[in-house]
Amino acid sequence: MDKKMKQACQDRIRLPLLRERVMSAADAALWIDDGMVIGMSGFTRAGDAKEVPLALAERARHEEMHITLMTGASMGNDVDKTLTEAGALRRRLPFQADPTLRAAINRGEVMYIDQHLSETVELLRTRQLAPINIAIIEAIAITETGAIIPTTSVGNSASFAILADQVIVEINLSQSADLEGLHDIFIPSHRPHRTPIPLVNPRDRIGTHAIEIPPEKIVAIVITEKNDSSSTILPPDQETAAISAHLVSFFMQEVRLGRLTESLLPIQAGIGTIANAVMTGFIDSPFNHLTMYSEVLQDSTFELFDAGKLDFASGSSITLSEQKSREVFDKIAFYKSRLILRPQEISNHPEIIRRLGIIAINTALEADIYGNVNSTHVLGTHVMNGIGGSGDFARNAYLSIFATKSLAKNGHISSIVPMVSHVDHTEHDVDIIVTEVGLADLRGLAPRERARVIIDQCVAQPYKDMLNDYLAQANLRGGHTPHILEHALSWHNRFRESGSMLLQK
Ligand code: COA
Repeated sequence: MDKKMKQACQDRIRLPLLRERVMSAADAALWIDDGMVIGMSGFTRAGDAKEVPLALAERARHEEMHITLMTGASMGNDVDKTLTEAGALRRRLPFQADPTLRAAINRGEVMYIDQHLSETVELLRTRQLAPINIAIIEAIAITETGAIIPTTSVGNSASFAILADQVIVEINLSQSADLEGLHDIFIPSHRPHRTPIPLVNPRDRIGTHAIEIPPEKIVAIVITEKNDSSSTILPPDQETAAISAHLVSFFMQEVRLGRLTESLLPIQAGIGTIANAVMTGFIDSPFNHLTMYSEVLQDSTFELFDAGKLDFASGSSITLSEQKSREVFDKIAFYKSRLILRPQEISNHPEIIRRLGIIAINTALEADIYGNVNSTHVLGTHVMNGIGGSGDFARNAYLSIFATKSLAKNGHISSIVPMVSHVDHTEHDVDIIVTEVGLADLRGLAPRERARVIIDQCVAQPYKDMLNDYLAQANLRGGHTPHILEHALSWHNRFRESGSMLLQK
């Protein structure tokens, strides 16, 4: 061990007896057996286990090794890709966003359980899922009592470490030691004696700074200096700016009507380019003293801090572009008093979402004329990423908003269709649909009224005429939610056959 490593062990492993358990990733991976259930830290590319999974993939290339892998959400550092290519993944849950793994799932090679992100650890805790054998958790440090201090995400790490038989810790020297104190680890009590979660404001701290487990469960410690992978979001464009402008006008109207104040209510913003761009649009809005009670904190969170618009943000991970990452983590101490990272069970908890009155802004792949939303399945069959936390928030929010560009794939796909080809969020969970064309406020409307507003406000030509024709014919058939069932999915079918939802001339 070189001098730097020795010093790191001294500083970052504060319980001396654990220093003897430092080993190589390859040795740590030997704790894992074929058929095991492994819980890894990692949430939208932040704070993921980085060394042991790759060492495990190496083993899987030479020996029988098929695991069930649970994480917080998606992994960076090509962990999912490498494990998939090595044939090591049998089952994967509750979320992924990797193209190689996605393709293996869509070929039926990896069984993927696409789950509401708040629910995984509840199912584990109550033994409704197979128990975790080994947890692999990235940490800044291990405390004097053997508690694990996470890095840029909390995700499911706390419950994985508590519920696993054994724990492997990856101490990451490249993660700022100033992250210590950012986390708030709270684990709900067991039923039937569960008490309310005592969180009434996004700023409330209700738990501990570190994950407390018996230190003897830590069987291996690996030291790494690998960085989190940067987020892959694209910068705002004309369409996302238009979506954002429609939302700002809508919120201004809500303030004028006395339904919201200028600080709105705590905001949740989904993952990806569109949600990030929508939040960036709040920089030039008249709103002030905003707060976020969200899941992933993206670049826009820090842009809003810097613009003096945002007072506080609670999330489960910090996932940033390369440049923003350098800016933010170099001065994380500056932001720390305005940030909390929580377990995803708490950041996404229905009880808290309903109590705080969250404004939830998530992204749809497609929505239909009645307001049902598909966030996960391309053309009804092929998974993109997963539902993530969007369902946790959409069902329980004060206002549930879904944003999408009205067109995809150079206009050959309309994101507003007669009937969605897969349903993640039913019409009952969707208050607002917004595209670059406009905003449909669906609150208090019956299905026939919703269809009118969505087509009028959100759809570009020529799909607007096509949907008007569809609706006119469907209305002739009657019904509370009129459809022509034999044509309802014909747009998707046309795309599959001809590469376009447009009618051929
Ligand atoms: N049919 C087929 N493909 C579509 C589509 C549609 N109706 N609408 C969009 N797409 C494609 C885009 O063309 C793009 O493809 P590409 O990667 O090949 O370029 C891709 O989907 C992403 O779309 P984009 O417009 O760039 O949106 P995004 O980056 O904001 O991501 C989701 C949108 C829906 C994929 C993403 O938000 C997601 O996975 N959401 C589900 C989970 C979630 O909401 N989590 C948040 C909870 S906190």
